[in-house]
Amino acid sequence: MNFEFTEEQEMIRQAARDYATRELSQDVLERDEKAEFPTQHIKNLAELGFMGMTTDPKYDGGGMDTVSYVLAMEEISKVDASVGVVISVNNSLVNWALEHYGTEEQKEKYLKPSARGEKFGAFLLSEPEAGSDATMQRTTAKPEGDYYILNGVKNWITNGNSASIYLVIAQTNPELRHKGINAFIIDKDLPGISIGPHEEKMGMRSSDTHSVMFTDVKVHKDNRLGDEGMGFKIAMKILDGGRLGIAAQALGIAAGAMERSVIYAKERKAFGTEIANHQVIAFKIADMAVKVENSRNLCLKAAWLKDQGKPFGMASAMAKRYAADAAMWVTTEAVQIFGGYGYVREYQVERLMREAKLTQIYEGTSEIQKIVISRSIFREK
Ligand code: CAA
Repeated sequence: MNFEFTEEQEMIRQAARDYATRELSQDVLERDEKAEFPTQHIKNLAELGFMGMTTDPKYDGGGMDTVSYVLAMEEISKVDASVGVVISVNNSLVNWALEHYGTEEQKEKYLKPSARGEKFGAFLLSEPEAGSDATMQRTTAKPEGDYYILNGVKNWITNGNSASIYLVIAQTNPELRHKGINAFIIDKDLPGISIGPHEEKMGMRSSDTHSVMFTDVKVHKDNRLGDEGMGFKIAMKILDGGRLGIAAQALGIAAGAMERSVIYAKERKAFGTEIANHQVIAFKIADMAVKVENSRNLCLKAAWLKDQGKPFGMASAMAKRYAADAAMWVTTEAVQIFGGYGYVREYQVERLMREAKLTQIYEGTSEIQKIVISRSIFREK
C-alpha cells in the first residue's frame, strides 16, 4: 500500500492549486454576488487541460488518472466550487459517457471538442417529478422513421444555458419502465429546445442552473447513446463516476473552510490570547481535520478502484455520502469560529457553507447514497 502521489499527480495538483489561488480567488466573491458564469476561467482551465482530464489523448483528452482528477477537483473547489461543478459535470458525466458509450462519429463530433474544452456539456436527467426517483422519466422520445421526437421538461440542469452539448435521458417505451429509457447526445441549439430562466440559488451561484424544455425536438437516431433501452443503466453508470467528482468537490469545500479557520484562529485574539489557544476552538479544528482526512481517503480509494478497473460505485457513493455531510459540518463550524465575521460575505466561510449544502443534494441526495450503499452491501452478501 502506498499513500504517496506520483510526480505527475503532484504536478496536476499544483497546477490546479496555482490557478485557483492566483486567478479564481480574485473574483470569486463578485461572481457569487452577481451569479455570473465563469466564462473566461473555464476557457483558461480548458487550455490547461482541466475540461478533458481523464479522456483518452486519442480523443484530445489529457489521459490523466482519476486520482489526479480528485486532486484537481479538491484544489479548485477549495477556492470556487462553482467552477468545480462545471469541470465535474463535463469530465465525469459528459466526457466519460461519450468515451464509454459513444460511436466513433459521436466521439469525433462531441467528445473531442468537449475534451478540448472548446464546447462543454450538461447532463439532463432530473425532471420536475423525477429527481431522486429517476426511473419516472416523463420526457418522451418517440421513434419516427430515422428520428426520435423529444417532448418534456428537464429541471435543475447544471450548465443548462452555458453548455452547447446536451446528454438527455428520455422515455421511449413507458411499458418497459426503466428498460424503455434512452440516452441521447445532442446539440443545444436544435429547433424546439428552449431554456428556462436562471435559477437564483443559495450557493454555487456562479454555476448556471436552468430548466430545459423540449417541444417536438427532432433527434436523429445516430444521436442515441448506447443501445436501445440502455439509457437508464447508462445514467446510473455515469452517476457512479459523477458522485466521485462531487465528493471531491465537497472535500475541497471542507478543506477550504478548514484552511481559513486555522489562519483565523492563529490571528484572532480573545481573552488575552489567540483563539487557537482555547481548547474549545482547537478541538473544533481537530475534528475538522479528521473529517477532511476521512473525506480525502474515501475519495482517493474510490478513484484508485476506478483507475484499477475495479467496481467503484459503492466506494463513490460512500465518498459522496461522507464528504458532503463533512463539508456541511466543517463549514458550519468555520462560520462559528469566525463568529460575527463568519456571517458576513467578506470572510467567505458563509459562501462555503452555502456551497456545501448543495453537495448533499445534487447527483443523488445523501439519502439516495444510503440506498446505493446498502443495496451494494446486500448484493455482495
Ligand atoms: N450501474 C448499472 N446499473 C444500475 C446501477 C448502476 N450503478 N444502479 C441501478 N442500476 C440498474 C439496476 O440493475 C436495474 O436494472 P435491472 O432491472 O436490469 O436489474 C435498474 O438500473 C433499475 O435499478 P433500481 O431497481 O435499483 O432502480 P430504483 O428505481 O430503485 O432507483 C436509485 C435506484 C439508485 C435510487 C436511482 O433512481 C438514483 O440514483 N436516483 C438518484 C438520481 C440522481 O442521482 N439524480 C441526480 C441528477 S444529475 C445531477 O445532479 C447532475 C448535475 O447537474 C450536477
